[in-house]
Amino acid sequence: MAGRILLALTLMLIFQVAVTQVTQADKTLIASVHDKYRSSVQSSNMMKMRYHDGIAAKAQIHANKCHFQHDSSADRALPELPGVYVGQNLAYSTGGKNWQYIINLWASEMQNFKMGVGSTNGSAVGHYTQLMLWKTQAVGCGYKECPRFKLYVCNYAYGQYTWDIKYPWKVGSKCADCPNNCNNGFCDCKMQFCNSKTDIKDAKCNCTPWWLLKWWEQKGISTWTTDIESALA
Ligand SMILES: *[C@@H]1O[C@H](CO)[C@@H](O)[C@H](O)[C@H]1NC(C)=O
Repeated sequence: MAGRILLALTLMLIFQVAVTQVTQADKTLIASVHDKYRSSVQSSNMMKMRYHDGIAAKAQIHANKCHFQHDSSADRALPELPGVYVGQNLAYSTGGKNWQYIINLWASEMQNFKMGVGSTNGSAVGHYTQLMLWKTQAVGCGYKECPRFKLYVCNYAYGQYTWDIKYPWKVGSKCADCPNNCNNGFCDCKMQFCNSKTDIKDAKCNCTPWWLLKWWEQKGISTWTTDIESALA
């Protein structure tokens, strides 16, 4: 009997780590609301953002702890993206699950933001600038109904560094920095990252002297397809 209860508890723990309450509909909404804000500015280097289940898995592990504080960048890092810095936005609410509301809340910091300045008056802008960072191509989120609140965690690759907050994107006409990889007004590097401890230099998917990391090849996918996200899910 005791053995059975222990087995049941173990199974529940494994289940908790693996399971996410972020549904397929949530994933689509999260990516599209981010891209709605990202396309609302005149930017020459803004990258298309996509939902990434590997990044999301780390966000869910963190959400499950029910702590309203950031984890470490080591906690967020992915083995298939070596050296890629991953950022994080957090929020909590006491209402029902509503991703649209939470992303709008992060975006509302735009009222405190000015290009080249960052925060104009000391109020927070970091959630907005992460959401709007030109080189961020991938977002993945976790959600947990904790005893006292609902916790929302979104992880981002690339994450933002301090200096990115003043200049999250380059002002200019859309795709001016990426004439050869323009996709509906976004620069599109198809979730390829520069290998190893370097920032991507421009929106042309150029990593010199490093190489582009086609992390999806490690999943056995040899060529990019537009529905690669569903192939990876
Ligand atoms: C900064 O400006 C915004 C927009 O006007 C305002 O909502 C916010 O309260 C201001 N913050 C401070 C600390 O004054």
